[in-house]
Amino acid sequence: MGALRPRRSCLAVPGSSLKMLEKAQALPADQVFLDLEDAVAPLAKPEARKNIVAALNEGDWGAKTRVVRVNDLTTPWTYRDVIEIVEGAGANLDCVMLPKVQTAEHVTWLDLTLTQLERSLGLPVGRIGIEAQIENARGLVNVDAIAAASPRIETVIFGPADFMASINMKSLAVGALHPDYPGDPYHYILMRILMAARTYDLQAIDGPFLQIRDVDAFREVAKRSAALGFDGKWVLHPGQIDAANEVYSPSQTDYDHAELILDAYKHFTSEAGGKLGAAMLGDEMIDEASRKMATVIAAKGRAAGMGRTSSFTPPE
Ligand code: GLV
Ligand code: MG
Repeated sequence: MGALRPRRSCLAVPGSSLKMLEKAQALPADQVFLDLEDAVAPLAKPEARKNIVAALNEGDWGAKTRVVRVNDLTTPWTYRDVIEIVEGAGANLDCVMLPKVQTAEHVTWLDLTLTQLERSLGLPVGRIGIEAQIENARGLVNVDAIAAASPRIETVIFGPADFMASINMKSLAVGALHPDYPGDPYHYILMRILMAARTYDLQAIDGPFLQIRDVDAFREVAKRSAALGFDGKWVLHPGQIDAANEVYSPSQTDYDHAELILDAYKHFTSEAGGKLGAAMLGDEMIDEASRKMATVIAAKGRAAGMGRTSSFTPPE
């Protein structure tokens, strides 16, 4: 994977709330997404567009990735959302998030519309990225084509609440395990999204957990997608941010270990180290596949700003 933006914590900010638009700027989330979709009532959407444009232009978002979630393409609002946001604040926007994506054509529409806007506004063409939310069966069945639909796509996101509704899942507890099912009911969906994302070098992002006061339960759910390889998760409340940043970063032990493997492998494969393909690092045999795994963990740690607490010393 190339150098992608950190997205361990992706904070939802309703575009209708001036208070949240202000407060979110100082919170330690990797990404914010200013919402025009489900967190904003239909009658409040026109006002929310204006609030978001002002917050993007006048706010101080630091190093955060700045995203706006527009409404989905079955609504009457999407085109106006995109036009007003990009015309108003296109230079201060990193990505547009498109919810309930069902086919590659949805992404193509957004890609072409962004290109039109960038051309007419004199903005660099192709700079604004796309985040695609998979929230129903049709979107999941088409996820490979969706992930491949535009070079602008940066992430594929699981939208569990809408997804559960779309497949008639017999539960209201978003993201939680189900007492009647002897496994993780989301496993297939998460893996399907992850495979599509990795096929096209995109990030895979897990969706929201609604019991916002139960941070331990959030952590449990987050750990499951992090273990599979997901890059981050939505956070709906400031209290979930630290947990997400921690869960989607490697542990200090894993980070140190990964950096050691990289140094050791570089040494052992060199002339001075004996030109070895497989070598011993302590009690562990390492080879090219170890280097690849270590590269992933080290990259996640470096992106999270972690520092090493050990170093490699070549054997005498
Ligand atoms: C998020 O949009 C979800 O539906 O879970
Ligand atoms: Mg949704």
